[in-house]
Amino acid sequence: MVQTATTYTARVTDGVAMRIATIGAGNIGRAFASLAIEAGHEVLVSNSRDPKTLDQFARESGALTGSADDAAAFGDLVLVAIPFVRALELEQGRLAGKIVVDANNYYPERDGAIRELDDNEITTSELVARRFPDADWSRPSTRSWPAT
Ligand SMILES: NC(=O)c1ccc[n+]([C@@H]2O[C@H](COP(=O)([O-])OP(=O)(O)OC[C@H]3O[C@@H](n4cnc5c(N)ncnc54)[C@H](OP(=O)(O)O)[C@@H]3O)[C@@H](O)[C@H]2O)c1
Repeated sequence: MVQTATTYTARVTDGVAMRIATIGAGNIGRAFASLAIEAGHEVLVSNSRDPKTLDQFARESGALTGSADDAAAFGDLVLVAIPFVRALELEQGRLAGKIVVDANNYYPERDGAIRELDDNEITTSELVARRFPDADWSRPSTRSWPAT
């Protein structure tokens, strides 16, 4: 099920520290992680390579680092911020029971053409939510970012 991120705003800003993880530690993952740490949450970031590649960001931000599996296990809330087609390839079951914030955008030139999207039959978030039915997918809007 796709929910709006506003559903979770009260929970995140209610003075309750959460465990937040990112799958993807590029522009979006790092920005999200830094804001979450500033807001007092415990954060683990991951990418597709050795977590050591994130050591400098960890030192600067205070984030923990790990593999994508570690991130899925660690986070009560998991941001997925990777190329869209890579999100579709994440292991099923890995995100079961998690609140997942989906930052991914579809770019056919990067991700390859996906017919259902090109024909406007489904949205990107519906497509990933369909693939991970046991997770609670939400799609952030610009207004939701400061809430982290
Ligand atoms: N930049 C924006 O302004 C913006 C805005 C809205 C949405 N988006 C969307 O958000 C997503 C992320 O954008 P970005 O700008 O943060 O991208 P980016 O800077 O290129 O970072 C992508 C990150 O994803 C990681 N990654 C790739 N495949 C992975 C996998 N299978 N498992 C775990 N990590 C993986 C990469 O790690 P490695 O380097 O180790 O491969 C890297 O840390 C994209 O879908 C983008 O279209 C971007």
